[in-house]
Amino acid sequence: MQNNKIEVRPVSNCVGAEITGVDLADPLTESAYSEIRQALCKWGVIFFRDQNITPEQHLSFGQKFGDLHLSKTIGKVPGHPMVAEVRKEPDQTRNIGGNWHTDHSFVEMPPLGSILVARELPETGGDTLFANMSAAYDALSEGMQKTLSGMSAVHAKKKALQASNLSAERQVSAKEMAEIGEAAEEQFVHPVVAKHPETGRKILYVNPTYTVRFDGWTERESKPLLQFLFDQAGGPENTCRFRWQKDSVVFWDNRSVWHYALNDYHGQRRLLHRVSVAGSDVRA
Ligand code: SIN
Repeated sequence: MQNNKIEVRPVSNCVGAEITGVDLADPLTESAYSEIRQALCKWGVIFFRDQNITPEQHLSFGQKFGDLHLSKTIGKVPGHPMVAEVRKEPDQTRNIGGNWHTDHSFVEMPPLGSILVARELPETGGDTLFANMSAAYDALSEGMQKTLSGMSAVHAKKKALQASNLSAERQVSAKEMAEIGEAAEEQFVHPVVAKHPETGRKILYVNPTYTVRFDGWTERESKPLLQFLFDQAGGPENTCRFRWQKDSVVFWDNRSVWHYALNDYHGQRRLLHRVSVAGSDVRA
């Protein structure tokens, strides 16, 4: 067991903090896990550098934060069915997560968060952006906050796969769509204003990738207000940008931040391993 002296250094005023003083290859003290959890809840995403960890150590770290969550659609690391591969090969033009989103917001209980380990990186590019959805909520006027409270929104997996919502390089072929099959039909209605179960902070809980419309409203009626909220939340002051290095580890709180994997490194391989922690209820 390490005698950890953890330091938490915010990378912006609103979202993201770098954590030093821990080696994730070894078990940490219970108080170190608790400090990490607090930093995650406070800053929305935490970054660790130079963590040379195996898939087993990656899984053990994830399990300290809850049961693990398995994505149905994404490939797995051979021999490790609970470790997903976020992979883009040099000949691929699509990436995984190339738009602002909350992972799996189309299910009843989206994951609490995900922990990514960088295995292979492009020489340049492939950064990941994060946006704080509690700060986005706080920045709304009282009138808008009142209007949104009590509203719900429909989140559908299919929205992410519709050609009209993708840039040309992210088209999903009919074959791929058929392979995804029933998984593409998943959808769920969540409150627009959620509550963080650990901090109690309110969260603006809509995202451009999966939120289709407000419940009881048509898509056309919903579009202008949704677009306003997306623009507000994705504004630069509400975000941070992480530049990966080999052995970087990133852990985001999927309840309160969006993330966006930049797709700006065509012709190069990028491979991250992802372990996700199962969800907790964010209903206010
Ligand atoms: C994801 O959305 O899980 C991918 C994040 C990344 O590749 O940076």
